[in-house]
Amino acid sequence: MSNDLHRLVYYSRNKVAGEPGALEAAINGILAKSRANNAKAGVTGALMFNSGCFAQVLEGPREAVEEVFERIQQDERHGDVSLLAFGPAEARSFENWSMGFVGASVEDAARYGSLGPESGFDPSRLTGEALFEILHGLALDEENAD
Ligand SMILES: Cc1cc2nc3c(=O)[nH]c(=O)nc-3n(C[C@H](O)[C@H](O)[C@H](O)COP(=O)(O)O)c2cc1C
Repeated sequence: MSNDLHRLVYYSRNKVAGEPGALEAAINGILAKSRANNAKAGVTGALMFNSGCFAQVLEGPREAVEEVFERIQQDERHGDVSLLAFGPAEARSFENWSMGFVGASVEDAARYGSLGPESGFDPSRLTGEALFEILHGLALDEENAD
């Protein structure tokens, strides 16, 4: 019971400063590490970067999701980690993705990510459900584009 499928949604403020190249390298590093760790832990999900914020959905057995989120919260590459939703889920919504990157390409996100909130959505104004729907919709678009 305690290890049933759960879904977690959060957003945070990017703290990786510097040239777009540095941000691109940081995001690619986060994605590579996430994909390796999450595949082992049975965690799936998607990550988005926009307007200086990260938004992420994690889904998997409750304890695995909690462990991954513990590590993520301690990561100094972002701050003000705000949990928007955490609870049981009926089914996975990102089952093919140990960690997908959705929205702008990593390169574009790094190039435009430092623009103000007017350049994109502001996750602090969204509910967990709304943020989940955005990431899920973008993931479906990506899958259909293949
Ligand atoms: C925005 C963001 C999202 C992250 N997402 C994940 C993730 O989904 N899974 C993961 O294992 N690590 C993720 N990380 C990295 C963790 O904070 C941490 O660096 C990593 O899990 C450490 O793994 P290691 O102990 O194998 O070196 C993320 C980091 C950031 C900044």
